[in-house]
Amino acid sequence: MIREYNELDFNKVNVLGRDLDINFIIKLTPERKCYIYEKNDEILGFITFDILIDRVEIIDFIVHINHRKKGIGSLLLNKAIEVSISNNCKSISLEVKSTNKNAISFYIKNNFKNVSTRKRYYENGSIDAYLLYREL
Ligand SMILES: CC(C)(COP(=O)(O)OP(=O)(O)OC[C@H]1O[C@@H](n2cnc3c(N)ncnc32)[C@H](O)[C@@H]1OP(=O)(O)O)[C@@H](O)C(=O)NCCC(=O)NCCS
Repeated sequence: MIREYNELDFNKVNVLGRDLDINFIIKLTPERKCYIYEKNDEILGFITFDILIDRVEIIDFIVHINHRKKGIGSLLLNKAIEVSISNNCKSISLEVKSTNKNAISFYIKNNFKNVSTRKRYYENGSIDAYLLYREL
């Protein structure tokens, strides 16, 4: 089931988020939203995104490594898109490491396009960032 994050999820979300970044701590701001995928009291994935007037940026997005390729990521992305459209947003974008082939494949499958490359953006300048974009 997908539902909106609440503060009782703080610890579980941070444990999962540490697979994205060892220092991960969820931060919510007035423009940031978070939705989680939960099954049998376990959080198997979450997505955070910022509603920036008429566009949306995906900030953090992860599905538990043992539960990938089962459609959970697509459900979370579709929820983010549904919330974005209901907030009158016209586009959604994100930055991804050029080396993250699985995520790039996921986004291309979900109709995102690579619209620009930020050279040497990650890891002290050794990895490029792709800016992926989709109209809503
Ligand atoms: C990107 C991510 C959220 C997708 O979640 P998911 O639940 O696996 O996505 P879905 O099951 O809806 O979609 C599956 C598609 O994602 C891609 N994909 C996801 N995991 C993959 C893997 N281990 N190997 C290859 N492709 C993979 C493929 O395009 C796959 O399509 P296919 O099944 O037809 O090959 C997930 O892979 C993840 O958590 N990755 C690590 C964190 C990350 O990179 N986040 C994004 C940063 S911008």
